[in-house]
Amino acid sequence: MQLNKTRRALVAATLTMMGVLSACTTVGGGGGGETAAEGTKAPDPACKLATAQDPGNSAPPQNVPVAENAPKLAKKDTYRVAFSQNASNNPWRLAETESMKAEAGKLGHQLTITDAQNSQAKQIQDIRSLIAQKPDALFIAPITEQLANVVVDAAKADIPVFLLDRAVDTNIAKPGEHYVTVIRSDFVQEGLRAAVALARATGGRANIVELEGTTGSSPAIDRKKGFDEAIKQCPGMKIVASQDADFTRAKGQQVMETLLQSNPDVNAVYAHNDEMAIGAISAIKAAGKTPGKDVVVVSIDGSRDALQAVSRGELYATVECNPRFGPAAFKTMQEYAEGKPVPTVLVNQDRFFDQSNAKQFIEEAY
Ligand code: AHR
Repeated sequence: MQLNKTRRALVAATLTMMGVLSACTTVGGGGGGETAAEGTKAPDPACKLATAQDPGNSAPPQNVPVAENAPKLAKKDTYRVAFSQNASNNPWRLAETESMKAEAGKLGHQLTITDAQNSQAKQIQDIRSLIAQKPDALFIAPITEQLANVVVDAAKADIPVFLLDRAVDTNIAKPGEHYVTVIRSDFVQEGLRAAVALARATGGRANIVELEGTTGSSPAIDRKKGFDEAIKQCPGMKIVASQDADFTRAKGQQVMETLLQSNPDVNAVYAHNDEMAIGAISAIKAAGKTPGKDVVVVSIDGSRDALQAVSRGELYATVECNPRFGPAAFKTMQEYAEGKPVPTVLVNQDRFFDQSNAKQFIEEAY
C-alpha cells in the first residue's frame, strides 16, 4: 500500500525516539512483580514502552504527490455529490455520516448517501448505481481495500472520487489518477499508540487478546501492523490470541467470551475499535473478572461510550480516530475544483484519551 515504507520508517523512528525519551519519563501503573493492572509490579526494564509517554501523532508525510491525473471538477457554487458509506452499525459510522450530511447542508450541496450495511458486495452495487447517477463528485468510505476496482470504474466514468477514512489497494486504484485523495487517520500510528498505552498499563507484562477489525479493511491491517511491530520491543508482551470481530460490539463480546475460556491467563485486550472493546468488557465481567484490574483494555476511536468506560476505569485508554470528516471532505473538494494542489493523502491529527482527560470530552463525543 502507498506510504508503507515511509510508515515503517516512521514507526521505527518513533520507537527509537521513545527509547531516548523513556530514560526521563516516569509513569504510574504499578509497583513490582505481577501485572501493573494489579498495581503490584515495577515496569519491566526490558520493555522501554512501559515507561514511555503517548508518542502522539506521526509526522506529516513528506513529499506526497498532488492529484494531477484524476477526473476534473468544474468550479461551481454548489454540487450534486454522493457518499457511499460502508455501514451504519456503530456510533463512529453514524457520526461520520452525520458530519457529511451537516456540512453538505451548510454549504448547500445536494448529497445522496448509500449504506452498504457492512457488506462488500452491497457497497460495490451501491457505488455502481451512484456512478450511473453521474454525481459531480463521489465520496467513498471503503469497507475493505478490495474496493479498488470499483474506484477505477468511477474514474473511468469521469467522476472525481475522494476516499474517506479507509484506503483501497493502490496497486489497482492509483492515487491522484483513479481517485483524488484519501483523507484518513494514521492507523499504523494508532496501533503504536495503543501498544504504548497497554505497555504502560501492564508494566510490559501482558498476555494479550487482539480483537481485529474487519478482515481486509485498512484500519484492521494497519492497526495490527503498528501494534505488533511496537510490542516486539517488549519480551513480556505476547499476543495469545488474535481474531476478527468485525468492528462490532456484539462480535467483540462473543469472540472475547470464547477466547477467555481458551486463554484464562489473559490480562490484556487490544481492540481495534471502541465498540469491540466495550463488547470485550462485557465478556470480561461475565467471566467474573474485573476490567481495568484483572484485564486491562485499550482501544481506538474515542466514542462517548468509550470515554465513559475510561472514566469508570473499565477501559484504560482510547486513541482517537476522529469520524467527523464533513468539513475536511468538502473543503478538499472545493480546493480541488479551484485548481489548488491537493496531496493524494491527507492525514488527520488525533488525540489520546485516558483517565487524565476522558471525562472532559464526554459531552462533545458521539
Ligand atoms: O475506519 C475507521 C474504523 O471504522 C473505526 O475505528 C471503526 O469504529 C469504524 O467502523
